[in-house]
Order: sequence, then structure tokens, then C-alpha cells
Amino acid sequence: MTVLINTGQTIGVINPRLHGQFIEFLGHCIDEGIWVGEESDIPNTNGIRNDVLTLLKQLAPPVLRWPGGCYADTYHWRDGVGPRDKRTVSFNENFGTFTRDDHQFGTDEFLRLCETIGAEPWINVNMLSGNIAEMKDWMEYINRREDTTLSHERQGNGHQEPYNTWMWGLGNEVWAGGGTMTPATYMNDYRRFASAMPKFTKSVFEKSKMYAIASGPDANKSRESVKWTEDFFKALADYRQPPINGYDMHFYNWNISDQKDTPTSFTKEGWKRVINGALELEELINVQFTLIENGLKLIHEPETSMDSKLDTIDLIVGEWGNWHYSAFNAQPALKQQVTMRDAITTALTLDILQRNCNKVTMACNAQTINVLNSLVLTEDDKMIVTPNFDVFMMYKAHQGGTALDVPRQDPDSGVYLFASKKGNKVIVDMINASYEEQKTVNLDFSTEVSVASLTQLAADDPHDCNTVNNPDAVRSYQVDTTGFSTDKHQKITLPAASVSTLSVHLK
Ligand code: AHR
Repeated sequence: MTVLINTGQTIGVINPRLHGQFIEFLGHCIDEGIWVGEESDIPNTNGIRNDVLTLLKQLAPPVLRWPGGCYADTYHWRDGVGPRDKRTVSFNENFGTFTRDDHQFGTDEFLRLCETIGAEPWINVNMLSGNIAEMKDWMEYINRREDTTLSHERQGNGHQEPYNTWMWGLGNEVWAGGGTMTPATYMNDYRRFASAMPKFTKSVFEKSKMYAIASGPDANKSRESVKWTEDFFKALADYRQPPINGYDMHFYNWNISDQKDTPTSFTKEGWKRVINGALELEELINVQFTLIENGLKLIHEPETSMDSKLDTIDLIVGEWGNWHYSAFNAQPALKQQVTMRDAITTALTLDILQRNCNKVTMACNAQTINVLNSLVLTEDDKMIVTPNFDVFMMYKAHQGGTALDVPRQDPDSGVYLFASKKGNKVIVDMINASYEEQKTVNLDFSTEVSVASLTQLAADDPHDCNTVNNPDAVRSYQVDTTGFSTDKHQKITLPAASVSTLSVHLK
């Protein structure tokens, strides 16, 4: 197979936020997975386990979404601020978590974690059991610079400066756990919540940095997701628009049709089904992007020069990942192992997001630790780094680069490619989604190149996974490139079921 990499054919800039992460009070994602508390025997820094912290610093996710998910619609921020021994104790039923919720990891712990690992926070507001005053106070506590009771309270809790958190989700999956709403009923609530958001500006003419994210459709429902977005825009267009910057669709790659299929035990059909399922995201992004464009056209021209018109909304994929059937019965809740099947769909998903960087601005993997498509699994004091972590690390080089328009391969080949350019460097990732066949790819660059590195991630057997006893069974490795050609043509061998990233310098 020969593939032309034309560095002059570009799509757009890859927003680093397409590599976002999501953590929730669900199972052992936050409690046990991140937070162990200062008194724990597990080595920690201010309550955050050191092993996971080191890894999150290495990953440096551009965005971290919190506190949910569905949990966000039960969350009252006041339960999680102030002295830890005085915090509220409640019960967490989220997706079968079924544990006491002692709110030790609250707003300050989350925002300090973001500061430490270099992530921008995206906070999801409780629109179901919470109210507008509560939302407004939360924003004031976090962001107010001026002398107020709430800014003093934040300072009293140890953070002098405002956190300047600008990304706020209003509602989560409001078509299901977030209220079983219709677009019209959601829009009624959304208008009120979004209009009440403080602006944190210094003059009435200054544009607010606050970024309001509306709950978008369940992309797994092909009929409902189209109708949802159409009706959402109808409800939005008729009268003046509240602040709205982002529209958050969720897509899970459900693997539930064969109940014998587990994360580590699957047939070739199961392999194919999951790979093909992940590929569906691209069409869904295109459909939603067009629906947003059409929806914006419904909005009337302003009647006076005092009025503004909403003319753009960013498409976001706030939750994505593989969801295998066995996760429903897992304890801790929704915990699943990760093999090359998941690593390949993670790579395919990142490629889809990057290739559509002119349509999608932000996306979050669900979830970072111990839940669904994890990068990290923990068992008491032990930590396992999954192959998904390797994929995110290998793909980091794409962040902020310019996506190149690489010709699409015949899907029957099982090989998928994506390339981006940053300065005089080109990164090509190559996914061999074939279960057992090694493939060879001839890359033809439009200019002369010299190879800087080749990283590969493959397993001896596609069912292999990393465990406490064998933590590096599936780990990325550097390929020796000393014998590689020094001209425009590069011949790369892709092991079966593998992800590779090639970095070249343009001469
Ligand atoms: O990621 C797990 C759950 O999936 C989230 O809480 C919810 O938003 C979605 O249904």
C-alpha cells in the first residue's frame, strides 16, 4: 500500500483540547483512583496518590472535565469545600458505585490538581437537583477577584487568586439521567441558568471569557440525535439567545450485543465489531456539525444595533470511549481492562477527532482512571498503566499541529493513517486494525524527509493486557530507524493489531 503525504494539503489546526480527559465520582475513578487522603498508607501529595499524579503530570491533559457525568446532577459544591473533617457525608449511587460519599476531593482539590498537571478545568453544573443561585455562588467562589464574602471564603480555603475557570457545562445528558428533558424543556432551564452566569468582566462592553456548554444529543441514537439538535435550535432561534458557546454530544462505542464478549476475552468477530463501532463517530460528527450550521441559520437577524446574534457554536464530544457489556456488573463500578482492541479504537477515535478539527473543538475520553476506557487502573496501592495511556502519549505530538489531508485507505485493508505538521516536523500515525496480519505501508512524502523516530504499540496476543503481575505486557517501544531511507520514500512495517507513530523532519 502506498500513501501520499502532501504537506501542502491541510485541513485545520488540531486544538489540543481534542485530547481532553474526564473524571467523575464513579466507582474508583476519583476516590481510590486519584484521592486517597493525606492519612493514607499509599504515598500521596496532599491526599492525591503519587503514582497517579506522576502519570497525570506526564500526560498533562489539556482539559479535565469534572465532577460528572451523571454525578454532576447530584452534586452540591458546598458539600466539598472547607475543612475536610466537617464536610457533608452523603451516599453515591452513580452507576452502581454504592459507597459513602465523604466529599474529601472537592472544588479546591480538583482545581489545584488541574493547576499541578497543567489541565484546563471544565466544570459541569448541577441543573437537576441544583439551582441557579447555587451555580452562581460556585462560579463566584472560584472566579471572583474583588473583595466579596465568597472570594474571602476561597482565600480562607487557601487559594488567594481566582482560579479563572472559564468552561462550564450546563446540564449533562439532559435527555436521560440529567432530567429526561425534551429540547424545549431543556431550553427553558438553559436560558435561565446561562443568563445568570456571572461575566467577570470589567466593563459592559468587554466580552466575557465564560464559556457555556449546552448538553447536546445522545449520538448513539441515530433518529433521536438528529431530532434533538433540530428541536434544540428551533427552541433557541425563536427569541433572543442566552450565552451558548459549546454543544456537547456524547458517543459511547457500545459493545453489548454479545454478552460472552469481555474486555479481555473476545473472538475475531468481537474484535471487528468494536473496531467498526468506533469508526461510526466520524459520520455522527459530520451530521451534528451540519445540523448546527443549519440550526444557526434559523436565528433571526437582530432588530436593533443593541442586540447581538448568535452565529457560532462549537461542537464538542464531551464523553467517548468503549463500553463493554461486562462493565455493568463490574465492581468497582464500570471498571474494565484495556487490550489492544481498546488501544486501537482510542487511536482511531483520536484520528477522527483530529481529522475533523475544523468541526470539533474539544473532546474528553471517558474516563481517565478505573472507569470504562481508562488510561490508568489501580488496585489498592498498585497502579497499572493501560495501553490507552501509551496511545495518548504517542499522539501528543499532534496537539497544536496542522492536520494534513491524507488520502483515505480502503477500509478492507484494515490500515488507517493520519498526519499532522508542526514547523518542519511531520507526525504520521498508522493503525493496523488487522487482528493477525502484519502490513507494510509505503509513505511517499511530497518533499525529502529524514526520520526522527518511530514508536510502536503492539502485543504478542491481541487479548494481552497489563496487570499487577505483568505491568508492561503491552507497552510502546522505539524502533531502531538507523537503516531507514533518507529520501521521500519510507517503508514502514506495521505489526498486526498495532498503533505506530512516525516522526520525520522536512529537509
Ligand atoms: O461515563 C459514565 C457515564 O456515562 C456518565 O456519568 C454519563 O454522562 C454517561 O452516561
